[in-house]
Amino acid sequence: MRATLVEVLGRELGESLYSLEWLKDRAASHVDGRCTGAIFIAREGAEATNIGHVIVREEADDEGPLGLVSTIYVLPEGRRHGVARRLVDAAHHWFQSRDLHRSATDTSETNLPLINLLGGLGYEIVFRSDEKKMVRLMKDARPA
Ligand SMILES: CC(C)(COP(=O)(O)OP(=O)(O)OC[C@H]1O[C@@H](n2cnc3c(N)ncnc32)[C@H](O)[C@@H]1OP(=O)(O)O)[C@@H](O)C(=O)NCCC(=O)NCCS
Repeated sequence: MRATLVEVLGRELGESLYSLEWLKDRAASHVDGRCTGAIFIAREGAEATNIGHVIVREEADDEGPLGLVSTIYVLPEGRRHGVARRLVDAAHHWFQSRDLHRSATDTSETNLPLINLLGGLGYEIVFRSDEKKMVRLMKDARPA
């Protein structure tokens, strides 16, 4: 989570926004029952080294429940090999298993790797905060 914040927001803001203890507790809350969430980890090699992860949880907006991709991260040396796409697949399976037909994520408007990745998977920008320079990307797969 911290590496993602640093990469997206820059070192100064990314390291100062939340303490490491807060981030660890926040991640733990997705698997210890405090929120309805999950963490999927991508591993590679004989030693099953962690190379990426996605953190998801159930949230709601004005239209009802949705699946939120809270954080997704792939180590720089593991990028552009489809790892994030597979992590998003895992997130979508989890959402479907909970009957969450809409999914979303929030990111910096300059995060083109993520915007391209999710754009290719059917997500669209549904909200833009000019003040925070953030966008919300959403995929609506509700049956007609
Ligand atoms: C965004 C991120 C998770 C992508 O991980 P990845 O494993 O490299 O992504 P994939 O290999 O699955 O790429 C899938 C598609 O995403 C898009 N994409 C990924 N990286 C890209 C880049 N640097 N520039 C442009 N498009 C990119 C492409 O459409 C790509 O498909 P292609 O390789 O067939 O062209 C990774 O760059 C990352 O960890 N970034 C820092 C953390 C972050 O920004 N997380 C989101 C915070 S909200």
